[in-house]
Amino acid sequence: MKILLTGGAGFIGSHTAVELVKAGHEPVIVDNLYNSSKKALERLKMITGKDIAFYEADVCDPAAMDDIFAKENFDAVIHFAGYKAVPESVTKSVAYYRNNLDTTLTLCECMQKHGVKRIVFSSSATVYGPIEESPLVETMPSAGCTNPYAWTKYMNEQILRDAAISNPDWSVALLRYFNPIGAHESGLIGENPKGIPNNLMPYVTQVAVGRLPHLNINGTDFPTPDGTGVRDYIHVVDLAKGHVAACNYLEANAGVCEVINLGTGTGYSVLDVVNTFERVNHLELNKVMAPRRPGDMASYYSDPSKAKELLGWQTEKTLDDMCRDSWNWQKNNPEGYDS
Ligand code: NAD
Ligand code: WQD
Repeated sequence: MKILLTGGAGFIGSHTAVELVKAGHEPVIVDNLYNSSKKALERLKMITGKDIAFYEADVCDPAAMDDIFAKENFDAVIHFAGYKAVPESVTKSVAYYRNNLDTTLTLCECMQKHGVKRIVFSSSATVYGPIEESPLVETMPSAGCTNPYAWTKYMNEQILRDAAISNPDWSVALLRYFNPIGAHESGLIGENPKGIPNNLMPYVTQVAVGRLPHLNINGTDFPTPDGTGVRDYIHVVDLAKGHVAACNYLEANAGVCEVINLGTGTGYSVLDVVNTFERVNHLELNKVMAPRRPGDMASYYSDPSKAKELLGWQTEKTLDDMCRDSWNWQKNNPEGYDS
């Protein structure tokens, strides 16, 4: 299939492009490079040996997107493009709603106009809201979102559910990712946050490479086995393969609209991650016990059985792999794509 990847130069999109090529599909990337670099595209060529088509465009721009849809004959869309920093979404809420909703609406209009009937959407476990009871199952109602970023994911899911009803021949997969970390084993592509990272693994790797002085372990008094927060970390290459499986599923099942968790089903604590990172990479991190971040939950992880049942997909990589590959990327690219 020829598959449009909006936001395909970013962290998850670039890894998905690799897996799509490996599976015999033809990805086409549209990205405005707001949070990514053209270097990622050069690296994709080094990994795949292919010139992946790339358009520098804003997915909110209806004219630009209409041109691209007219030129390319897409069989499916994977919609990664969006803003994703939770704290920033609180201070820049309007920009988050504008970008994260407008991209989806523009895409839906182009899909209707150009007869494209399959869409995979990057949703998030954050849509479940503050449910302190895991595993999280797709049938659980949301407990309400706690920040504008999360609401944009919640609203996008609803937009796409309704679009599937209005367009009964569409097939839609709303993929709820848990905590993606790791990098391609080549070390050529990886996570490249702008400014100081919000998420645990890029913070860990930037401390390890000497860009940040120490890691804060945020919260040591949670009701978890070691007192630190527990999450379902998933290797980005496993996650990327989940997208290939979702595209194949949509091709074989016209008319479906499904919410599907992409996680491992296993929770690891912050200390599990830090200790594993130190052990597999033979280094020691400078770390400081610090207060909880406001709003952080103690623990959540997925029930991944629906993905196995519908997509025939499950994760293969371990926490050791995630920690080794994250460090391999960062040590080879200390300043990310600007190295
Ligand atoms: P990323 O920031 O690395 O990638 C997103 C890409 O979208 C970037 O390359 C950015 O330049 C592009 N983009 C943003 N707005 C655009 C626009 N209007 N037009 C064109 N391009 C635009 O993020 P990621 O980690 O790869 O995440 C991909 C998707 O998955 C996002 O929608 C994110 O919300 C979602 N998600 C991410 C995580 C995570 O922890 N990384 C977890 C759950 C869901
Ligand atoms: C993981 C754990 C922190 C940084 C976020 C979004 C969510 C989704 C994934 C997009 C927590 C602890 C972190 C640090 C730490 N994104 N931590 N020191 O908060 O589970 O999820 O990313 O959809 O919407 O909210 O991930 O990586 O920020 O935190 O101790 O410097 O690491 O307290 O327990 P989170 P995270």
